[in-house]
Order: sequence, then C-alpha cells, then structure tokens
Amino acid sequence: MKFFVDTANLDQIREANDLGVLDGVTTNPSLMAKEGIKGEEAIFRHYETICDLVDGDVSAEVLSTDYNGIIEEGKKLAAIHPNIVVKVPMIKDGIKAIRWFTENGIRTNCTLVFSAGQAILAAKAGATYLSPFIGRIDDSSWDGMELIGQISHIYKLQGFKTEILAASIRSALHIVKAAEMGADVCTCPLDSILGLLKHPLTDLGLAKFVEDAKKMNG
Ligand code: E4P
Repeated sequence: MKFFVDTANLDQIREANDLGVLDGVTTNPSLMAKEGIKGEEAIFRHYETICDLVDGDVSAEVLSTDYNGIIEEGKKLAAIHPNIVVKVPMIKDGIKAIRWFTENGIRTNCTLVFSAGQAILAAKAGATYLSPFIGRIDDSSWDGMELIGQISHIYKLQGFKTEILAASIRSALHIVKAAEMGADVCTCPLDSILGLLKHPLTDLGLAKFVEDAKKMNG
C-alpha cells in the first residue's frame, strides 16, 4: 500500500517525506485555504514547491464544477509538473472530464466518493485513483471501511485498474484497516502516520535497553 500525506502544509510534507516512506501528497481546496494560499499564481507556485519536495504523485484539485472549466483548469494543473494528478469531484461533469483526461494522457483522482456505484462510474471513466472518504462516512455512523472492502472486491472481480485511495483518514487504526481491506493507497494526516509508531511495549523495551547499554559502556 502506498502512503500519501493529506495536507498542503509544507512543514508537515517535509516531516512526512523525511521518514522515507512517503509516496505522494493529496490536497483539497479546504487544505489549501487553511495555508492561506490565494489566487492562481500562488496556487500554482505552491503545487510546484510540493512537487519539488516530494518524489511522488501530487493531487491538485480543480475548483470548477462545470465540464469546460474542469478541462481548462485540469490542463493547466497537469502542465505544472509530470507528477501532478488532477483531482476531480464525483459529479456528472466530473466523470465526463475524467474520460477526457484519460483519453488525453492526464492522470486523475476522482474525489468525494461515498458509494460503490460512484466507484464503478469513476473506474469506467478511467480514473487513475478513486478517493472514498472513510472518516466522513464514519462521522455519519456508517462504516467507511466496508465501502473500501466492497470497492476492492468489485474492482478485482471486474478487472478495473483504478487504484483505491482511502481518504479522510482520522487515525492510525484507519490506516491499518484500509490496508486490510485492500486499499492501494492511504492518504493520511501526518499525526495518523506518526500514530503507527506508537506502542507502550516499544517505549518500555527501549528504556530498558538504553539503561542496560549504559552498563555495557562501563
Ligand atoms: C483527500 O483527498 C481528501 O481531500 C481528504 O482526505 C478529506 O479529509 P477530511 O474528511 O478529513 O476533510
């Protein structure tokens, strides 16, 4: 399973990248706005910086919601760097646009996915990645992981090539469950990635080793 970090914050991207296990970055308009990035020039520059920091796919989301707008914006985003993946919302015009991008060699990430039906449509349109929003499903008292399992089953059965990118991750447990359910990629906040490190027996064991190492040093 590939690891993406889900943020537009450059310090967090650097920290995740320094771990040496990062395969890419996802952003969305809310994450970009949180960093105070405004205007096309600043947005493009920010994506360029992220692409320079990380050697992996970087999802850049279109702001348009109509077919022509999505195409024009997607073409410009894709031209920023070969690692840019154009993130397109799961709407009718979005699906049409994904088909166009697929036919024109531009990779896509279909976002805001909440059902298996939507997953089938995106795969049929040729999306490179599909982003089911696990945490938001859990927030509404459904089981987001069940959806990952269902889509994984359907994609295997039907031979779809679209990669399942588990998104809206809220915890380290979500990452483990996404891996179990067959997600190809997990995009996570930095805290959830760091959460994978935690185990009290590791801390206790290390404290004892460090103490005993002092004895060995005389
Ligand atoms: C990723 O591609 C999504 O934009 C992101 O994971 C959404 O996460 P949230 O539900 O925590 O906003």
